[in-house]
Amino acid sequence: MSQLFTPVPVGRHTLPNRLVMAPMTRSRADDAGVPDDLVATYYAQRASAGLIITEGVFPTAMGKGYVRTPGIESDEQIAAWKKVTAAVHAKEGRIFMQVMHCGRISHPSLLPNHAQPVAPSAIKPAGQTWTGAGMQEFVTPRELTPEEIAGVINDYRLATRRAIEAGFDGVELHAASGYLPEQFLSSGSNHRQDQYGNSVTNRARFVLEVLTAMVAEAGSDRVGIKISPEMHFNDSVDANPQETYTHLVEQLRDLNLSYLHVALFGAKTDYHGLLRPRFNGAYLMGGGLDQKSAESALADGRADATVFGSAFLANPDLPERFRQGAALNTPDKNTFYSPGAQGYTDYPFLNASNAA
Ligand SMILES: Cc1cc2nc3c(=O)[nH]c(=O)nc-3n(C[C@H](O)[C@H](O)[C@H](O)COP(=O)(O)O)c2cc1C
Repeated sequence: MSQLFTPVPVGRHTLPNRLVMAPMTRSRADDAGVPDDLVATYYAQRASAGLIITEGVFPTAMGKGYVRTPGIESDEQIAAWKKVTAAVHAKEGRIFMQVMHCGRISHPSLLPNHAQPVAPSAIKPAGQTWTGAGMQEFVTPRELTPEEIAGVINDYRLATRRAIEAGFDGVELHAASGYLPEQFLSSGSNHRQDQYGNSVTNRARFVLEVLTAMVAEAGSDRVGIKISPEMHFNDSVDANPQETYTHLVEQLRDLNLSYLHVALFGAKTDYHGLLRPRFNGAYLMGGGLDQKSAESALADGRADATVFGSAFLANPDLPERFRQGAALNTPDKNTFYSPGAQGYTDYPFLNASNAA
């Protein structure tokens, strides 16, 4: 029998199946970072996932990195998220919020008072970003002072408190894809000489302090972390990723997190084999999975649950389709980040009566 449809404990929750919806930025919020009722519909449509992880949500306006992304800072944002969590819970789903601070992967046009983005070090990422006024070069970020780092950690703490207030079942720290936590972890973006840089112990400190603050608010059994070693996205480079991630995951043990979510994209090292034995909570595997590879990872004990991104985006009833061996809808890349219902809430269900 397929293990995809067996329950699995993840922190304080028991997921009814092992199909997790990956965090996916969809850029459907308004300019104030407030998600609307369409966002509630989108997530509620996908409530048959064992667990939904939301798109990246900025803890503070300084953490915003893309147009029309949502936040969890203002009362208006909290009220809007309450509708989202209520809609998912009404369909008996579970939903974690992914907390995402983009750091240097932003642009002054997206930040309060056209501020310079912040980062561990003043190192400009190579590349361009979509700003609403078209593609623009990244800028050189401003190096955070130790006092400001304490402030950012407090932003994550407050975001976690607000996420729980908004009805989320837990929170995930986005420590992948070259955003602020990975900027601290990686030697290419962190040239600090203080307690937050240089040695691997120091480069991991920010992530561990952020998680400690999140755990203090939500409890360790409602906090997870996502990493993507060797993804190299957003100009993220580390001289020794095996050492960095081994150290990080060994340090996570003391935090008793509910899960470790590892998404791999062509990494040469078998990080699942390296990291899973070093972690003491549920292990979520993601990145390019299909039903067959997910089932084999579960059968071999290489993962406790499997994470699907674009397949969940295009198939609101993905678990039912896998159960039946039904054909999948194809994701439309042109509407990944465009406003409105098209390519968002209009992907067909197998059974049209489930679409409401
Ligand atoms: C449209 C889109 C938006 C994404 N946004 C995020 C995000 O906000 N946070 C994140 O951690 N990963 C993000 N990802 C990566 C996914 O979480 C996932 O790791 C990736 O899609 C690989 O899974 P897949 O091969 O099943 O699609 C995004 C992926 C897609 C397709």
